[in-house]
Amino acid sequence: MRLPRKYFPIIATCAVLLVVAVAGYLTPAESQKLPVRILFDNTGGKVVFTHLRHHRDYAIACEACHHENAPQGAEPLPCGSCHPLAFDEQYVKQHVASFPDKTYCIQCHHLEYAKLNFGHDEHVEYAGGDCQACHHGPDIEPEPQSCRSCHPEEKPESGDSMPDQMEAGHTRCASCHQDMFDHGLTSCKSCHVEADMTKWHGDFTGCAQCHDEHPEKELVLTRTNAFHDQCMSCHEERRQGPYKDDDCNKCHIR
Ligand code: HEC
Ligand code: HEC
Ligand code: HEC
Ligand code: HEC
Ligand code: HEC
Ligand code: HEC
Ligand code: HEC
Ligand code: HEC
Ligand code: HEC
Ligand code: HEC
Repeated sequence: MRLPRKYFPIIATCAVLLVVAVAGYLTPAESQKLPVRILFDNTGGKVVFTHLRHHRDYAIACEACHHENAPQGAEPLPCGSCHPLAFDEQYVKQHVASFPDKTYCIQCHHLEYAKLNFGHDEHVEYAGGDCQACHHGPDIEPEPQSCRSCHPEEKPESGDSMPDQMEAGHTRCASCHQDMFDHGLTSCKSCHVEADMTKWHGDFTGCAQCHDEHPEKELVLTRTNAFHDQCMSCHEERRQGPYKDDDCNKCHIR
């Protein structure tokens, strides 16, 4: 029996698809480059994570877990390069070396308030010529001068009552501009110009300069919390996989 000509395109397409399918099956796919299983060896008891199965069989996109905005084509970094066991001195020293380039730094070191948007001459007017609305009297400041000549850049040792530049500035400005501080972090722009951190060449400011004390502990999770949060919140959301209080042993092998 001969097939009518009109079927040829369909047969040809099927043949091409078959070849592609066989080739796809035989060629080591990009998934070969991915870790298949990952063993987390930790004090809570080893955890075996079936990486490939999570992606392929449970149909979870890479971005659901690897949330970094890495440059195009770059491999994801280990979670621990951003979520350390602890934010201690060792972290501050070593973390800088765990990133391929500066585009990673600004994910955390996202702002610098280098420039102050402040019109001095206008303010002399606003204060009705009263220099002491901001400057000290002659007992402390013989002549009005830059606050920086006495107030240190860094927070002084505890016990020292001398305010640093930020506290000195903020306290004085707030005497007329409390409204500008009322909206927390979102109000900083009323006086400061944000630097474009992608072109930043200086040192980065510690988070505590702007956020409350030890903010990094809440702003960027530690390694264990990052895993527990990510693994378990997805399981809970889908009601699949271990997440309940007594499910520890379904992940941790003792
Ligand atoms: C969905 C899997 C999963 C479940 C459920 C789970 N864990 Fe974990 N746990 C992990 C992973 C992954 C790590 C991180 C391993 C690493 O840091 O390399 C971890 C780390 C830990 C650590 C190590 C802390 C350290 O500093 O080394 C402890 C302790 C721990 N888990 C306790 C628990 C307890 C208690 C429960 C139950 C309430 C629990 N885990 C449930 C996956 C899980
Ligand atoms: C269900 C969550 C999940 C999904 C989905 C997932 N990964 Fe992962 N991946 C992880 C975890 C967790 C690690 C271990 C990271 C570590 O050890 O710090 C990891 C490790 C890796 C590593 C090794 C990095 C290293 O040096 O530790 C690569 C590469 C990787 N994943 C690529 C991918 C790609 C590409 C996809 C999508 C095709 C993907 N992953 C999907 C969670 C996931
Ligand atoms: C390049 C740095 C970087 C890497 C690598 C990284 N993280 Fe994060 N992660 C962050 C930063 C910064 C935040 C806090 C800001 C935010 O929410 O985006 C965060 C927040 C989180 C949060 C809380 C918010 C959320 O998205 O649910 C979880 C959970 C988390 N990370 C888990 C992980 C896991 C698991 C991995 C590895 C698979 C990982 N992270 C790898 C930088 C990183
Ligand atoms: C995942 C978030 C994260 C990433 C990414 C990151 N850092 Fe940090 N960095 C921190 C935290 C948290 C501290 C501790 C700050 C504190 O104690 O207030 C810190 C501290 C620092 C400090 C010391 C600042 C001080 O005065 O306390 C420098 C310098 C620094 N980082 C440079 C870098 C550079 C350079 C990169 C990129 C190569 C980078 N960081 C990437 C979170 C990060
Ligand atoms: C609204 C607050 C305010 C008032 C009012 C004010 N100043 Fe200032 N002045 C400042 C601040 C803040 C600085 C520090 C600016 C800096 O260092 O960038 C400063 C700096 C100065 C400087 C040093 C400039 C330099 O570049 O070193 C002089 C001189 C000065 N003021 C004189 C005066 C005199 C004179 C008056 C009164 C006629 C006056 N100021 C009123 C806030 C004020
Ligand atoms: C010549 C040195 C000197 C200069 C210049 C100076 N200060 Fe001070 N400032 C001091 C000293 C000394 C104290 C007192 C510290 C103490 O109480 O132990 C102080 C305290 C303060 C305080 C806390 C006590 C108070 O008066 O409310 C503020 C706020 C302050 N300065 C703001 C400023 C501002 C704003 C400028 C610039 C416009 C400035 N200072 C310039 C030396 C200086
Ligand atoms: C004696 C009261 C007083 C003090 C102290 C004061 N300001 Fe002002 N400021 C004013 C007045 C009045 C205006 C104009 C009306 C308005 O916009 O609220 C103003 C306006 C501003 C503006 C809006 C833009 C402009 O110039 O009109 C900025 C930004 C500003 N001040 C910054 C500062 C900073 C920074 C400090 C502390 C170094 C400060 N001010 C201290 C009274 C004060
Ligand atoms: C009313 C004006 C005003 C507002 C609003 C304001 N600042 Fe400031 N800030 C100042 C002044 C004045 C200084 C002292 C600048 C100097 O000495 O050069 C300062 C200094 C700083 C510094 C130290 C900069 C340095 O060069 O050492 C930091 C960090 C800072 N502010 C953060 C913030 C944050 C975060 C917010 C929002 C919560 C904020 N500021 C809101 C006026 C303001
Ligand atoms: C110069 C001041 C400054 C420094 C330094 C700074 N931040 Fe922030 N941060 C801000 C401001 C302002 C916002 C709020 C932005 C907004 O609301 O538009 C913010 C917001 C955030 C947020 C988002 C919070 C949310 O609820 O969306 C995270 C996460 C964060 N910062 C982490 C960090 C970490 C980690 C560091 C240190 C590595 C750091 N920041 C250093 C000023 C700063
Ligand atoms: C984005 C969602 C998601 C994330 C993130 C995720 N899982 Fe799962 N996990 C699942 C789903 C869906 C299943 C399938 C459960 C089923 O089929 O009953 C599963 C099943 C499991 C199981 C039981 C079956 C198996 O595959 O071994 C374990 C153990 C497990 N996950 C561990 C982890 C660990 C450890 C992490 C964090 C490193 C993690 N999962 C992160 C979605 C997720």
